[in-house]
Amino acid sequence: MSEGTYFPVAKTADIEQGKCKAYQVEGHDVLIAQTKTGDFYAVENLCSHADATLEGGRIRGNHIMCPLHGARFSLVDGSFGPPAWAPIKTYQLRVEGDEIQVLITGPVEKKNRGAMGMF
Ligand code: FES
Repeated sequence: MSEGTYFPVAKTADIEQGKCKAYQVEGHDVLIAQTKTGDFYAVENLCSHADATLEGGRIRGNHIMCPLHGARFSLVDGSFGPPAWAPIKTYQLRVEGDEIQVLITGPVEKKNRGAMGMF
């Protein structure tokens, strides 16, 4: 059920420590973040509060703060703080050499959602 495929997304040098970048991976909006201690994480690039993208949010420890209203999400498990009311999806990630790969599970489908969402 949880089988999937690791897709190459970025090079480790593409993302500075303490920063994050958004990517499209097989139709998924994925945000890759590197903590200040050098760990990489992949989460859904969409805040559960009001559907803002999380790209540009501040990284604090293993958390990211939504740039719009400041909800705090764990990069590890997607758990959240107010004003968000739901967790965000996390993706398994691995680093092979200098390549960051993200595990996409389930049927791969192109959502083709525009940058502004569905509205
Ligand atoms: S949209 Fe992210 S906290 Fe409001």
